[in-house]
Amino acid sequence: MASPLQSVTVLAPAKLNLSLDVVGLLPGGYHALDMVMQAVDLYEQVTIRRSQDLLVRAPGSRVPTGPKNTAYKAALTFFHYTGLLAGADITLRKAVPVRAGMGGGSADAAAVLVGLNALYGARLSMSELCALGASIGADVPFALMGGTCRVQGLGDLIRALPPCPACWFAVIMPGYGISTPAAFAAYDQVGSPTHPDCAAQEAAIRAGDLAGLCAAAGNALETCAGGADTASLKEALLAQGAMAALMTGSGAAVFGLFDSRQKAQAAAHALADRGRQVFALGLDRGGARVIRTGR
Ligand code: C5P
Repeated sequence: MASPLQSVTVLAPAKLNLSLDVVGLLPGGYHALDMVMQAVDLYEQVTIRRSQDLLVRAPGSRVPTGPKNTAYKAALTFFHYTGLLAGADITLRKAVPVRAGMGGGSADAAAVLVGLNALYGARLSMSELCALGASIGADVPFALMGGTCRVQGLGDLIRALPPCPACWFAVIMPGYGISTPAAFAAYDQVGSPTHPDCAAQEAAIRAGDLAGLCAAAGNALETCAGGADTASLKEALLAQGAMAALMTGSGAAVFGLFDSRQKAQAAAHALADRGRQVFALGLDRGGARVIRTGR
């Protein structure tokens, strides 16, 4: 029998919201959502080693590494559910900007669930991992599934879609972040003029219709999130030839969708000074996955 794994490294993609609608208020103040989410090729890399204790480190990042960190919460949730009396030494190599709406914290949580499942041979199913993930954050089940999904409810109702028609993104992270609870609280005050048709977008994806996908793109949190640069960044992306431009998640990042890699790269280059970080990104067809193991 092979010796037990001592370490695993997991790659977990960031996401963009091709659409985000708020469709209702749930008991407890949470919002029922309807979204189409897309994994993109910007990755959190998470290495987990066997340990007696629970420790999270994030070298080079200023995210808090204590019990509020989504990776920490994911580890506690995993050990509680499985009953394993074990720990983990978790190193987050963060590439996804924080408070961007790109799901970096959710990717970290998904990576920890997938990584611990492999490291300790727990054999939890994808649906068990998604149920654990949903208790950590609304975007964690998607971060586990990846690819292209229609996501509803509290992020827990997920339907995998066929791959999105070929497209590329220029993503601009402005010099400020946006807090998700604050964006939802503002939505409760002012509502939204935008309610994208996520069903139409799903149909367009199923039909391989990029123009239809773009026609249905939109984000109901865009105005209430209050990003000072959101409108001007969208305009700038459209002026660079984007087929659609919108905010992702609860912001603050704004992205344009292009029908060629060259156009997305040219737009990212042209708008490099408009944000703290600017990325040219492509599609990723997967979710959080183990890329390396050590014995
Ligand atoms: O689940 P996540 O940690 O991303 O949510 C952060 C906060 O955003 C929640 O505490 C809640 O205030 C708000 N939220 C919401 N409705 C959702 C998702 C998040 O009101 N469906």
